[in-house]
Amino acid sequence: MKMIRIAPALPVLLCMAGAHAQAGTQVAYDAFAPVYVVSSPDTYRKSLDGIARNAQNRRDGGGNDVVISEVSQHQLPEVTGRIHSREQRCGGFFSFDSRAEAEAFVHSAAPANAGASNPIVYTIDNQATVMPWLPQVREENIYRTIKHLSTAYPNRYYASANAYVPSTWIRDAWLGLAAGRDDVNAVLFPCSSCGNQYSVILSIEGSEEPDEIVVLGAHLDSIAPSSGTKAMLAPGADDDASGIATLTEVLRVALTSGWKPKRTVMFMAYAAEEVGLRGSLAIADSFKTGGKKVVGVLQLDMTNYKSGNGPDLRLVTDNSDPALQSFVSALFQEYLAPVGPTLGSFTCGYGCSDHASWTIKGFPSAMLFEAGDDDGGYFPYIHSPHDKLENMGDSAGRSVYFAQMALAFMGEVGKTASGTLGKRVADVD
Ligand code: BES
Ligand code: ZN
Repeated sequence: MKMIRIAPALPVLLCMAGAHAQAGTQVAYDAFAPVYVVSSPDTYRKSLDGIARNAQNRRDGGGNDVVISEVSQHQLPEVTGRIHSREQRCGGFFSFDSRAEAEAFVHSAAPANAGASNPIVYTIDNQATVMPWLPQVREENIYRTIKHLSTAYPNRYYASANAYVPSTWIRDAWLGLAAGRDDVNAVLFPCSSCGNQYSVILSIEGSEEPDEIVVLGAHLDSIAPSSGTKAMLAPGADDDASGIATLTEVLRVALTSGWKPKRTVMFMAYAAEEVGLRGSLAIADSFKTGGKKVVGVLQLDMTNYKSGNGPDLRLVTDNSDPALQSFVSALFQEYLAPVGPTLGSFTCGYGCSDHASWTIKGFPSAMLFEAGDDDGGYFPYIHSPHDKLENMGDSAGRSVYFAQMALAFMGEVGKTASGTLGKRVADVD
């Protein structure tokens, strides 16, 4: 008798394009435009050889051998598909619009944990602001935002015709929380290869150190395999409506409390992360060019699922700043550990989310990731039509810890205005 093995009904993890850098303004997607890929020689040999052209060997700024090669824009999904099937991993390469940019990146490339010389001193002394915030986080608010993004905009793919609609919805939802605040503004941030999508930046202007910037970010786009002529179904509830919804609740709690930060705090919803960190790279690049001082970045990408019996939150160990990672661990010990949750670690092995864009551009950045065994599993339905709340226990409960961590991060890196702001003139001596 013949035994037939039936494959489990789990979606295959879909990997998309690697980290992609560019600057400038919005232009149309060009399937045949050249893309310059920087990879390890191993990845070139196993996955790129045969489809890439004009390969050149280089040694990067960290002393590693790398290869720069050329593919067409439309071949990027094939490149990531090959890396996934042949090397059993995602991403693991960087892509650029010109060979000159790829060469410049290689020469300036820093090791994965790039921020060892981060000069910023992070302190934990703002319990008076942070502690009262923590019990104010509401699961039902996070749930409602995830539900809205994943059902009203179940295709947030950067190149889809309506890709800008969730961008404007997020901008308006965030601005709606800031009614009556003239120190808050929100803008749509375009980028040349973000298709029909914009990133969103909401800023709360710092009252004492407005030039020092704290960033809280998540990506607003989603992706899934496209099926012929049918519109892509990519609800992206965990990846990453959960991160956007968590940030939205953080903003609500902070603004409801009337909080005014000492430093400028920026909430960012990034466009086109799933095709190479494009929205966040455009922002980080423009901040670098503009000489902006970013003192700390926290990325939330996938916050709402628990796999296995591991820790409740995991700190990503690579493409992030060691000093900032230690600080996030210390924040966890101060504010969350006393009430029960646990913190572990997760190594992506490549620039898996927008925290890597800030690292590449030289800014201190860290990322928190959902519950699971150390370096073990995560939500199995990402990048598929099944990335829905129904497949995450129909609850946003797991994200509450992430909102509390982001509040602690914001309160301690942004600090609370200590000057006369918010006091009546008669109170000032
Ligand atoms: N949320 C994922 C990253 C992720 C997936 C982190 C699984 C940890 C575990 C993100 O949206 C993503 O899919 N990133 C791409 C890489 C990017 C450079 C295009 C990926 O992982 O393929
Ligand atoms: Zn994601």
